[in-house]
Amino acid sequence: MEQQVQKKRIFSGIQPTGNLTLGNYIGALRNFGLLQDEYDCLYSIVDLHALTVRQNPTELRKACLRTMSIFLASGLDPEKNIIYFQSQVPAHAELGWLLDCYTYMGELSRMTQFKDKSAKHADNINCGLFAYPVLMAADILLYQADLVPIGADQKQHLELCRDVAERFNGIYGDVFTIPEGYFPKVGARVMSLQEPTRKMSKSDPEDTYIAILDKPDVIRKKIRRAVTDCDNTVVFDPENKPGVANLMSIMSALSGRTMDEISADYNGLGYGKFKDAVADCVIATLEPIQAEYERISADKAYLQQVMDSGRERASAIAHKTMLKVRKKLGIAPWKL
Ligand code: AMP
Ligand code: TRP
Repeated sequence: MEQQVQKKRIFSGIQPTGNLTLGNYIGALRNFGLLQDEYDCLYSIVDLHALTVRQNPTELRKACLRTMSIFLASGLDPEKNIIYFQSQVPAHAELGWLLDCYTYMGELSRMTQFKDKSAKHADNINCGLFAYPVLMAADILLYQADLVPIGADQKQHLELCRDVAERFNGIYGDVFTIPEGYFPKVGARVMSLQEPTRKMSKSDPEDTYIAILDKPDVIRKKIRRAVTDCDNTVVFDPENKPGVANLMSIMSALSGRTMDEISADYNGLGYGKFKDAVADCVIATLEPIQAEYERISADKAYLQQVMDSGRERASAIAHKTMLKVRKKLGIAPWKL
């Protein structure tokens, strides 16, 4: 009889804060859809992570549902993938605490996201912000994930996750699968439209990013206003021409064309024409997602069903890991 080969497992998470951006789409979401047939995938809306900065409860709730609708609208099939809210599986918080006890202050102090976010929120440098990468490690290890599709900005956090998992396994034996990162070849770091040396981020001002739900005229306006340079050449040179390089990367990631092909097509035509072509490409990608989003986000019964089924399926896997971890650590439940 043919033996069923166990598929490799994928885990990734996205915070339900602000508007999901084109960076989230190219760096993460789009890959999620491409992986769903080959792998056993879990995608979590990581609402506990979002609490490291102050959130308005009504807005957070809306953002959670919006994020789930965008996941579905981008082509993630909830039968093939487990799509769920992190806070609905309490084991994340539990394993997060346990792993805190195996992570050093020095390691966490080196995290660039912590440094950036504590500079940005100087009035609220809370312990959650500091321990954020440990919760992320717990997310991944809870499901024994083999692969983690993420943008380049999360590489350092994934390294920490591997270090903590190896440390834990070193003490207790093979408890956790050591995960690998999975990065897109082009577009792992989509940059801000206004400051193309910084990553595009949904927590920055509106004109610096394209939201997945931005309407076509808004997308075109933002791309036309994107910072470039004055030499009017469309060549890929991230160091000296970061603005143009960013727009070329976006076009390349969405159209599959190489930088040379793009350069051959648009060099010499002026930035106006090039920017319009980039906008066409972005609009062509996002318009169908937006139409699906409108349909899905209005269907509360469907969203409820996806949410409930995701929670149950995720909980069952998490429960198995927690039993193993608890046993290794000597904490309850025991069988006397
Ligand atoms: P976040 O918005 O921080 O929750 O990020 C969710 C996912 O999107 C992570 O895998 C990030 O690495 C990815 N991501 C966020 N911003 C970008 C960007 N500007 N370029 C590429 N990937 C990104
Ligand atoms: N830290 C990630 C980000 O800000 C989101 C995240 C939380 C995540 N847990 C995760 C990503 C687990 C991958 C795997 O982008």
